[in-house]
Formats: sequence, structure tokens, C-alpha cells
Amino acid sequence: MKFFLDTADIKEVKEAASWGILDGVTTNPSHIAKSGKHFKDVVCEIAAIVPGPISAEVTATDVDGMLEQAHEYAAWGSNIVIKIPLILDGLKAVKKLSEEGIKTNVTLCFSSTQALLAAKAGATYISPFVGRLDDIGTEGMEVIREIRAIYDNYDYSTQILTASARSPLHIRDAAIAGSDVVTMPFETFTKLVKHPLTDIGLAKFLEDWKKVPQDKQPESGPTVK
Ligand code: G3P
Repeated sequence: MKFFLDTADIKEVKEAASWGILDGVTTNPSHIAKSGKHFKDVVCEIAAIVPGPISAEVTATDVDGMLEQAHEYAAWGSNIVIKIPLILDGLKAVKKLSEEGIKTNVTLCFSSTQALLAAKAGATYISPFVGRLDDIGTEGMEVIREIRAIYDNYDYSTQILTASARSPLHIRDAAIAGSDVVTMPFETFTKLVKHPLTDIGLAKFLEDWKKVPQDKQPESGPTVK
């Protein structure tokens, strides 16, 4: 499963990239606003740090406006993926961009039927927001399972990009459900590593190691037989 970081915070991107297991980054207008930077500057800075797919979201809501922004953003780098909201004009834009070979990430998806439309339009990625579905009392991960079944039934190439993932349980369940990608906040990324029993066990090992007689160093250099 690919791991994407869901942020526009350069420090978080650099730290996560240093782990060697980061496959891409997703941004959205809220993340860009939080960064306090110009859109192109922060997207290009991220794209220079992470060679994987970097999602940059259009803000137009009409087809022509979306296509104009998509063509502009796609020219910023070969790893730029165009994020497009799952509305009717968005689907029309995705269809056109797919025919042009421009990669898209269809966002703000909340149902498997919406995801079916995105696949038919040729989306590269589909981003169902599991956390926001959970927020209103519906099980977000059930939508991931439904999409996986539907995509597998018809061999759609669109990749499921589980988004709005807010806990290690979301990551676990997305992996079990067969999501191709999960995008998560940096805080969740860091939580995946930690387990108290690992820390306790390591401390015990190191404490016990202190009792092991350490090999005496040879008087002269190592003896070669
Ligand atoms: O990329 C979508 C993601 O940023 C939404 O996450 O936690 O705001 O629902 P959240």
C-alpha cells in the first residue's frame, strides 16, 4: 500500500520523506491556506522534495476553469497530479484530462456510486473521505470496501486513495480493505511507529545487555590464524 502525506507543511514533508517510506503528498486548499505560502511556491517546493505524486487541487468549479487550472498546474512538474472535486463538471474535466494523459485525483468522494463515476471518467486516483463519513455516523471504511469490490468486478485501473484517515486504525483497515493508497496527517504517520511494548522491550534488552561481559580487546591487533 502506498503512503501519502496529507499536508502542505514543508517541515512535515521533509521529515516524512527522510524515513524513506513516503510515496507521495496530497494537498488541498485548506492545507495551502494553512501554509501561508503562495500556491505554486509550496506545491513546487513539495514536488522537489518528494518524487512521487503530488496532488494540487483546482478551485474552479466549471469545466473550462478546471481545465485551465489543470493545464497550468500540470506544467509545474511531471509528478503533479490534478485534484478535482467530484461534481458533474469535475467528472467532465477528468474525462478530458484522462484523454490528454494528465493524472487526476478525484476528491470529496463520499459514496461508492460516486467512485464508480470517477473510474468511468478515467480518474487516476479516487479519494473517499473516511474520517468525514465517520464524523456523521456512517462507517467510512465500508465505502472503501464497496469501491474495492466494484473496481475489482470491472478491473478499473483507478487507484483507491483512502483520505481523511485520522488514526492508525484507519490505516490498518484501509490496508485490509485493499486500498491502493492512504493519505494521512503527519501526526498519524508518527503514531504508526510507536508501540509502548516495543519501547518497554527495547529498554529491557539494553538494560540486560549491560550485564553481559564485554569481550576484552586484544593486547595487539586481531590475531589472524
Ligand atoms: O485530503 C483530504 C483530507 O485533507 C481531508 O481530511 O481530516 O479534513 O477530513 P479531513
